Amino acid sequence: MRDIRLFTDKASLSRAVAEAFVARASESERFSVALAGGGTPRLLYELLATECHDRVPWNRIHFFWSDERYVPLDHVESNTRMVRQALLDRVDVPAENIHVPPVELADPEEAAGRYEEDLRRFFGSGEPRLGWVLLGLGEDGHLASLFPGSPSLEESDRWVIAVKDSPKPPPVRLTMTLPIINHAAGIHFLVAGPGKAAALSSTLEAPQDPARLPAQGVRPINGTLTWWLDEQAASKLNPSK
Ligand code: 6PG
Repeated sequence: MRDIRLFTDKASLSRAVAEAFVARASESERFSVALAGGGTPRLLYELLATECHDRVPWNRIHFFWSDERYVPLDHVESNTRMVRQALLDRVDVPAENIHVPPVELADPEEAAGRYEEDLRRFFGSGEPRLGWVLLGLGEDGHLASLFPGSPSLEESDRWVIAVKDSPKPPPVRLTMTLPIINHAAGIHFLVAGPGKAAALSSTLEAPQDPARLPAQGVRPINGTLTWWLDEQAASKLNPSK
């Protein structure tokens, strides 16, 4: 059964996700979360750093990124820069708990391998069961840096790969793959605004075709998938489905 939660606007959506995050982080001795990039989750991160600040066990959380653009960490397009500004530079998370993708390396392939090694060190020999994976949805239906028609959607072994032909600039990125995403305990899509309505209705209601609609490839193996939507993004959904 699909878990869709509908909100009036991005502000109320973000506040609800923040409360769910606080509750989930508070019940874990060690809580790992892969953060989404882009613009949608910024307000969530700011709420966690401000209104929720005193209710979050910051020292028990490990932060990863579900994808990162291959630009310097101080670049305006950097997801790490956005997350640091909105959240991590404002809260007291131990430095060793912040797992920044190594985009300073010259070779993105090497960086993808290093990031995967960091994840494998964190999870040990078992499956990579992230506590939460936060994801956005692109207007073309992409998630993280997994784009329609990309061979990266077929990746079945590696947890992190380099993407060099992203249709969404910048072109070079590191991204978590469907295997690690689908092993997460909780997968959370945050989708807001009218620009996402077509991609969202196709993703949720069109026949299965993950090559064309990558988010249809998000199928939790032993976890939950929650869609946090505002009314504008949900405006094309068929209420009878
Ligand atoms: C990225 C993001 C990307 C994003 C979607 C939605 O690094 O670009 O990870 O997958 O989540 O493109 O972006 P917006 O939230 O800005 O609409």
